[in-house]
Amino acid sequence: MTIIESVRARQIFDSRGTPTIEAEVRLSSGAIGVASAPSGASTGAHEAHEKRDGGKAYGGKGVLKAIEGIHAEIAPALKGLDARDQRRIDAAMLALDGTANKERLGGNALIAVSLATAYAAANALGIPLYRHLGGLVGGSSPIPMLNVLNGGAHADNNIDIQEFMLVPVGAKTFRDAMKMGVEVYQHLKALLKKQGLSTAVGDEGGFAPSLERDEDALKLLVDAIAAAGYAPGRDVSLAVDAAASEWQKDGGYALPKRGTAMTTGELIDYFQALSEKYPIVSIEDPLGEEDFDGFAEITARLGRRAMIVGDDLFTTNPERLSRGIAKRAANAILVKPNQIGTLSETLDAINLARSAGYRVVLSHRSGETESSAIADIATAVNAEFLKSGAPARAERTAKYNRVLKIEQEVTGE
Ligand code: PGA
Ligand code: ZN
Repeated sequence: MTIIESVRARQIFDSRGTPTIEAEVRLSSGAIGVASAPSGASTGAHEAHEKRDGGKAYGGKGVLKAIEGIHAEIAPALKGLDARDQRRIDAAMLALDGTANKERLGGNALIAVSLATAYAAANALGIPLYRHLGGLVGGSSPIPMLNVLNGGAHADNNIDIQEFMLVPVGAKTFRDAMKMGVEVYQHLKALLKKQGLSTAVGDEGGFAPSLERDEDALKLLVDAIAAAGYAPGRDVSLAVDAAASEWQKDGGYALPKRGTAMTTGELIDYFQALSEKYPIVSIEDPLGEEDFDGFAEITARLGRRAMIVGDDLFTTNPERLSRGIAKRAANAILVKPNQIGTLSETLDAINLARSAGYRVVLSHRSGETESSAIADIATAVNAEFLKSGAPARAERTAKYNRVLKIEQEVTGE
């Protein structure tokens, strides 16, 4: 019933109009599973390789060669295997690829097939993906981390930090958390309008107004939370993603917008000052992706008051995470399944993180599709947080809306 009969793939488009892969796995029962690969912009150096065609079409970003690999090599290798045996499927693809960073067949090909297999098995069994992956253990809703203000390389303003997020820590349910997040987002928009600032949204649905410095963004968010009738820090807290791998320069750091040179110690002082003044509960990639020692230092200094989240630092890679755990670098991991390339390895990274007491944040990419797989994964593994951009743009809300549905199914309310 759950034996793989065929694997097909096609080129579709992500939220930036860039080609990506959609894979479809068909089983002996007739059940099918469909999944696609998202794509990052500020990608970590240690991510699984994204296979692209090169050449003229689509500026070299086509994925037809990766799709050819799925049809010519992956499909025959998986035919006849049981889709319920996710580990065996993923191991077969890893063996077939044969490289450390999935560069031969492409991490984008592998993750699309890996997730499509999981969906196919779930569909054949007549259960939702979060049940197939989480069984009776999974089922608790994450807290959303809503990226509503942007700076860094993604915005034409003077803000160095890439993402400013709302974290509705005071909500009892995901539904209540989204109510808080959405209301603050709308009040933020009104505040920006009143000040004559732009309310155009970026790739992840957040605003990118022309502000002078990082602190202005934090102030605006605190004002928007209060304007919506919530208590900053009690109902809704803040999170930032510095994406500081983009800040590395000449063995140290330089803030990209203002050009200020900083040492690791000065950067940590900077984040400490911000987190003493504003209700910041989470700091992602405050330092560069090779700076394990710096991460250990900031975790020692600020780790009790805030999550220190490794994104580019860990790239959802169990080996890099082990290194981080040994050094006490960070206390939370950002999990992006396409960074590592298979569902099994994603779950390995999550289990390893859990065993070290790290928090888990499931995350989208800046280039997304309408797939809501990360919502099911987050619920299945009881991830504490789900980061999927602003509550705007359908590829962002697809994930939040999916958790709303799952929460209703699980609680029966
Ligand atoms: P990316 O950005 O998907 O472009 O890598 C998101 C992040 O840095 O968290
Ligand atoms: Zn990040």
